[in-house]
Amino acid sequence: MTRQLLTWTSLGLFLSLTAAEQPSAPKPVAAPMRSLPWGDINFLQTTDTHSWHAGHLQEPQYSADWGDYISFAERMRQKADDVGVDLLLVDTGDRIEGNGLYDASDPKGVYFYDIVKEQNIDIICTGNHELYQADASAREYNTTVPNFKGKYLASNLDYINPKTGEQVPMAQRYRKFTTKNKGIRIVAFGFLFDFTGNADNTVVQPVEKTIKEEWFQDAIREEADLFVIIGHVTLHGPEYKAIYKAIRGQNWDTPIQFFGGHSHIRDFAKYDSKAYALQSGRYMETLGWMSIEGIKGKGKKDGSKQLGPRASMSFKRRYIDNNLFGYHYHTGLNESTFSTDHGKNVSSMIHEARKALDLDRIYGCAPRDLWLNRAPYPGNKSIFTWLEEEVMPEAAVTEKRKDKPRLAITNTGALRFDIFKGAFTHDTTYIISPFVSQFRYIRDVPYKSAKQVLPLLNNGGPILKTTSLKHWELAPPEQMSILTDIIAPEVLSPEPFVQNGWQSPLIPATDDEPDLIPGYTTKDDGGDDGDDTLHKQISFYRVPNCIQSTISFPDDGSDPETVDLIFVDFIQPWILVALQYVGESYKETDVSIYREETLTQLMAAWIKKNWKKDC
Ligand SMILES: *[C@@H]1O[C@H](CO)[C@@H](O)[C@H](O)[C@H]1NC(C)=O
Ligand SMILES: *[C@@H]1O[C@H](CO)[C@@H](O)[C@H](O)[C@H]1NC(C)=O
Ligand SMILES: *[C@@H]1O[C@H](CO)[C@@H](O)[C@H](O)[C@H]1NC(C)=O
Ligand SMILES: *[C@@H]1O[C@H](CO)[C@@H](O)[C@H](O)[C@H]1NC(C)=O
Repeated sequence: MTRQLLTWTSLGLFLSLTAAEQPSAPKPVAAPMRSLPWGDINFLQTTDTHSWHAGHLQEPQYSADWGDYISFAERMRQKADDVGVDLLLVDTGDRIEGNGLYDASDPKGVYFYDIVKEQNIDIICTGNHELYQADASAREYNTTVPNFKGKYLASNLDYINPKTGEQVPMAQRYRKFTTKNKGIRIVAFGFLFDFTGNADNTVVQPVEKTIKEEWFQDAIREEADLFVIIGHVTLHGPEYKAIYKAIRGQNWDTPIQFFGGHSHIRDFAKYDSKAYALQSGRYMETLGWMSIEGIKGKGKKDGSKQLGPRASMSFKRRYIDNNLFGYHYHTGLNESTFSTDHGKNVSSMIHEARKALDLDRIYGCAPRDLWLNRAPYPGNKSIFTWLEEEVMPEAAVTEKRKDKPRLAITNTGALRFDIFKGAFTHDTTYIISPFVSQFRYIRDVPYKSAKQVLPLLNNGGPILKTTSLKHWELAPPEQMSILTDIIAPEVLSPEPFVQNGWQSPLIPATDDEPDLIPGYTTKDDGGDDGDDTLHKQISFYRVPNCIQSTISFPDDGSDPETVDLIFVDFIQPWILVALQYVGESYKETDVSIYREETLTQLMAAWIKKNWKKDC
């Protein structure tokens, strides 16, 4: 850590701020900061925002909203223009699903798309979440793509026109442009990882196949000062490796900058001395900052010819905590000078949308924090123990079979975020579980077989050999990298790879550190100085792929002969394979719906019944 980069502002100082952020957002807390390194070309990246565009209303550290980000980007572009360098904005998908701002309207996203389009994004692409539901991909095609015309890239994604049945590119395959101030010639692509869970109105072409196509082979032969590959793709997976090899094979010395997403972490990877990749977390917690120094444009302004290999280049990154304290710090502005009219307008658009959607309606008061990964499972601070011991026994009940002993299984990836002590609102239901998963069941499964299902789902090994199902898809995406590491080493890069912040558990912060706020303490290929805000480390704990409730078992502790095996629909393929593995031959036709309500609705009903209303 370079000490001179830090400024220390007295801790505990609360800033009073003018009309920006959401009115109910907690004020950011001052903290020691690292400044942003600027280069010839600079980038701001968002990824996996999952419609948290109102910011985090229960966490001061991430409390700025999309309007504040617009103000920030406008101020930073001004700074870039003032000194004659370039700034580009990137978004790498999964903008939808995960917050009431998108999920709470019918149809979904009634207010959402108009809010997102206000940001002036230079390169944007699709995530897997835009493609799960056919109506969401249709809106992506007919709304977001035109909203970002010329900026939206779909290198390996097609859309099927519902009228003609014709398969067409979702958006243009790549983009060639020259930056405004430095005249840097960029060839940019927009990829999605080799995703297979999409609805049938889109076609995702495997990356490895796309890079053999003629248009791609032509594009990587274009004259470029910099290749920019954005994608909803993890930095250490096989897809970026393949793209990197293809481009590097053709251009031995041209700088390449990748931006990735999907696994919800902060990450920075070095592929070689002129090829780097950045990934900027999740849920509007993080803005990624990337700067490249030493690039000479051959475009309109700087006509000087590049001689020989580009020698001294540097690639630097920062992860910016999304709050106004940091935005003021990085722009050198303050509460009265920071917000632009445009940014303020978008903050009020968000506020109006939240009001119209009634997102602050209280369902009940959480009596304590319940953590996804920040507390050990099992344990009374774990959201999964709460689900397993309190919610599922009351939710996995139907009148007809209420006395039947049963096992109810949910994958941990079905829950996406923590519950904080205090108001649990309409919005929180979508934040916790945006999915429309439903309980299904197989009746009267021999208990000796049913009881083996959970361990098989959690240990993976043997099942993985007999099927293409991927076990890490069951757990929260944040765990993806460590799980692939353990279960499926063949898909990982051969280099050893330490996952940011997800060792379990991390060592706690040492006592001699000042009284820092808990938060991200990222370690990546660039070292441990990436975060813009100095934080106390948070311990993360691994959770199993699936959890199970045992319900209505005999009082005398004896084993039942048979049980109803209940599970959320998402995991049905894994359940059937696991049963087969233990010698039962159930088919899809043996599965019935157990309850009509979604898991989210059942959880909301439980909260309304069991938690006090008055917080
Ligand atoms: C876009 O697609 C959605 C979902 O199919 C549809 O409801 C909407 O009418 C379409 N909008 C336009 C402008 O075609
Ligand atoms: C904000 O900055 C401006 C310009 O430097 C200054 O005039 C003003 O007093 C500052 N306001 C606050 C509240 O610090
Ligand atoms: C902000 O909103 C006001 C009122 O709707 C409008 O008059 C103004 O043009 C908007 N300004 C910007 C920069 O969007
Ligand atoms: C949670 O568990 C801890 C340790 O087992 C115990 O001390 C505490 O009382 C428990 N809290 C609740 C609310 O059950």
